[in-house]
Amino acid sequence: MRQRVLDWEAIIHDDSELYARLARCVANDQFLLDLIQATRPGQPEMNMLLAAVHYMLMAEPGHPLADWYQSLGGKRTDGDLEGAFVDLVMQHRDAIAKLIAVRLVQTNEVARCTFLLPAYNLVNKTTDLPIALIEVGTSAGLTQNIDRYGYCYDSTAGRVELAPESAVHLECSIGDHVPALATAIPEIVWRRGLDLNPVNVTDADEARWLQALIWPDQVKRHERLAAAIKVAQLHPPTVVGGDVFNTLPELVRAAPAEAALVVQHSWVLNQFSEQDRERLYTLLDDLAADRPVYRVGAEMLRKERGTVLDLTVHGSSPWTAELADVHHHGTWIKWHSG
Ligand SMILES: C[S@@+](CC[C@H](N)C(=O)[O-])C[C@H]1O[C@@H](n2cnc3c(N)ncnc32)[C@H](O)[C@@H]1O
Repeated sequence: MRQRVLDWEAIIHDDSELYARLARCVANDQFLLDLIQATRPGQPEMNMLLAAVHYMLMAEPGHPLADWYQSLGGKRTDGDLEGAFVDLVMQHRDAIAKLIAVRLVQTNEVARCTFLLPAYNLVNKTTDLPIALIEVGTSAGLTQNIDRYGYCYDSTAGRVELAPESAVHLECSIGDHVPALATAIPEIVWRRGLDLNPVNVTDADEARWLQALIWPDQVKRHERLAAAIKVAQLHPPTVVGGDVFNTLPELVRAAPAEAALVVQHSWVLNQFSEQDRERLYTLLDDLAADRPVYRVGAEMLRKERGTVLDLTVHGSSPWTAELADVHHHGTWIKWHSG
């Protein structure tokens, strides 16, 4: 366990000095190492503990630990961060143990819409049809509202602004790639999501968990999530609860015929075994017997390769194309063609 925590510290070292320090603190504290054993099998223990502490602190922002948490207005970088962290954990140890035993890492990143948008536009351009969208592993369903957000694509040819009046503003750098597909908001006529454990952002407590999953020093992501939650409260995403293998067939059958059917998954298949990934592709082949299914995937299945955006058509004329390398939080796209 200690080694896993240290591995985690090495991974995040460049991204968050705060969490790197806290990971070192956990690695050297037997009580904390024992506490994180309460996480559900397969869940990343450090993420869970740090999210649980962040969640507690959001309810108690007067605790000294908040001085180091930018998400709560903190600005401190020196001093006894570790002491304040352990103090908060000790005060809430039973509640934290309960929380990490039931919750999951289900980070829902709306900025991924920056690369989903050109992929949907490509489907739209290929079929000349609007989109019927099914999101697999949609979490709170925030990316289902992709056509309700504003975008700014920065390229060598200049800036493209889409829906700048939206309360959710997403910025993306595209270098000299893909400008043609990032110039319009796709038309989505029907949308559904499915998830093993849907997150309901109209419930304040569930919304707080989503916020707690974001690292405290990523202030922009916090602001973006808060704005997207407000949009979701006005336009609640439909999310069907259950395993993809049980829920997807019914949703595919319910999709309107006069639209191109897109099945999207982003940062989901890393939670599947290789066998289950193959099983999903086979299921989609079967479900595409009557109409093509356009599967848009954004996954990091090999760490050294990063997040890859691809489009696969299931059905009688199957094809697949790797569209782009993308930043996992949507800040840049390196498009491969077109
Ligand atoms: C890391 S979240 C990604 C959420 C969202 N797609 C995004 O990009 O922001 C992965 C989600 O996949 C869901 N998930 C994992 N395995 C699943 C399965 N077999 N069936 C349905 N949902 C699943 C999890 O519950 C979780 O909400």
